[in-house]
Amino acid sequence: AEFDLVIRNGTIGTASAVFAADIGVKDGRIVAIGEKLGGGDEEIDATGRLVLPGGVDSHTHIDEPRPGPTVNADSFASGSASAAAGGTTTVIGFARQGRGESLTQRVAEHHERARRSRIDYSFHMILTDPTAKMLAEEVPALVEAGHRSLKIFLTYDGARITDTEALRVLAAGRKLGALVCIHAEHHELIDFYKTALVEAGLTLPKHHAWSKPMLVESECVHRVCKMAEALDTPIQVFHVSGAEAAEEIERAQKKGLKVWAETCPQYLVLTTDDLDRPGFEGAKFIFSPAARTGADQDVLWDAIRRGIIFNVSSDHAPTRYEGADGKLAFGPDAPFTKVPNGIPGLATRMPILFSEGVVKGRIDLQTFVAITATNPAKLFGLTTKGTIAIGYDADFAIWDAGKPVTITNDMLLHDNDHSPYEGMAITGWPEATYVRGKPVVVGGKVVAPEGYGAFLPRAPYPLIAPRGVFPTPFNPVDGVLVDR
Ligand code: URP
Ligand code: ZN
Ligand code: ZN
Ligand code: ZN
Repeated sequence: AEFDLVIRNGTIGTASAVFAADIGVKDGRIVAIGEKLGGGDEEIDATGRLVLPGGVDSHTHIDEPRPGPTVNADSFASGSASAAAGGTTTVIGFARQGRGESLTQRVAEHHERARRSRIDYSFHMILTDPTAKMLAEEVPALVEAGHRSLKIFLTYDGARITDTEALRVLAAGRKLGALVCIHAEHHELIDFYKTALVEAGLTLPKHHAWSKPMLVESECVHRVCKMAEALDTPIQVFHVSGAEAAEEIERAQKKGLKVWAETCPQYLVLTTDDLDRPGFEGAKFIFSPAARTGADQDVLWDAIRRGIIFNVSSDHAPTRYEGADGKLAFGPDAPFTKVPNGIPGLATRMPILFSEGVVKGRIDLQTFVAITATNPAKLFGLTTKGTIAIGYDADFAIWDAGKPVTITNDMLLHDNDHSPYEGMAITGWPEATYVRGKPVVVGGKVVAPEGYGAFLPRAPYPLIAPRGVFPTPFNPVDGVLVDR
């Protein structure tokens, strides 16, 4: 036949248009979009269905080893299945360096783990020990090999780095052409709150939010924007959770800075009230930054509509109740300070956004596609991903836009034993998800083998080039006068 695969009679949605057409696929790429295309070895009738670009989830913690008794619930085999179940076809995970460790070694090990992926993937590199030597000797080669983004934490014991180190990483990001992604919260202030809360005996899940009110985030977002401005380094601020932090982002963007922001579905649909659910239920909602208020959610939706928030990731970070030793790693009586931060969200990211966003009329379909697929692909230099257009990878999901769904943990295909979205009623779900023209999940069942996914090395790209603008005539990164 003329094509390997033809998807017929669907309604295609991209970041710029919604239109009826067939899609022809050959050798894993989209080679034709039009009416009444020729035959395919495989043909799919998408009448009455939406055909949307496969999602790009640019912030996912999958099979990331961590210190302590708790384990990240997902391997790349289960994590990638879960992503595909919810219409996502590309994930960016994290290769993480511990203090004193070789990043090169950790990246190599992460490649080994990721070989099980059923969908395509790339990595950010987490730097917890960014010595001058590390940044000069190991990082350049790793960036050159396609790991073109650096991630830093400004909070969490064992992960956070100082502002001095953060400046070093920003300088390296600028020199190497790697986007620096930042978890921005004021560590010392959180520690002060936590110590005082524990001393006062206030250790319920809801007190997690008391240990990190919005100001610990907005202060730090402000600070990292200033550091990025001083060093003329493009950044992405991760998981913007509400109004004050979004205001800081908007202020930086209005100055012309290359500051991009993401948010996550949890900040759009959960609130601090969820932490106050009875018994240990509230602990299922412990993530950082903490959930905020309904008013914050309104501001975030508005920030999405206005382009202040560029993309929506899951920040998938699942922990089973059961630890590595088979015993309960954290139980009903655990103080919030002992509960690992993070929730699963790979499968639910797109369906929740579709339902709460498009179905409820908060955003249009084009914006949905932009924030879940096109924008993250652009921002991270995934040049063959994120849209339905000729020459792009044949990654898409066929959506039943009107399907009523009640979320259960089982349908999420991850390896976690709970989901914060259990029982949530939504409308719309992907019926089938394709990566490079091959089905990965169909009708809720995994059909692609482990290892079908491919690593996506990322080459230099202009979007994240520095502006060449500094606050003084001096460029402190290269130690030279600014060329005007
Ligand atoms: O609570 C969260 N978000 N845990 C995952 C790690 C992170 O901060 O992104
Ligand atoms: Zn600490
Ligand atoms: Zn984070
Ligand atoms: Zn994260």
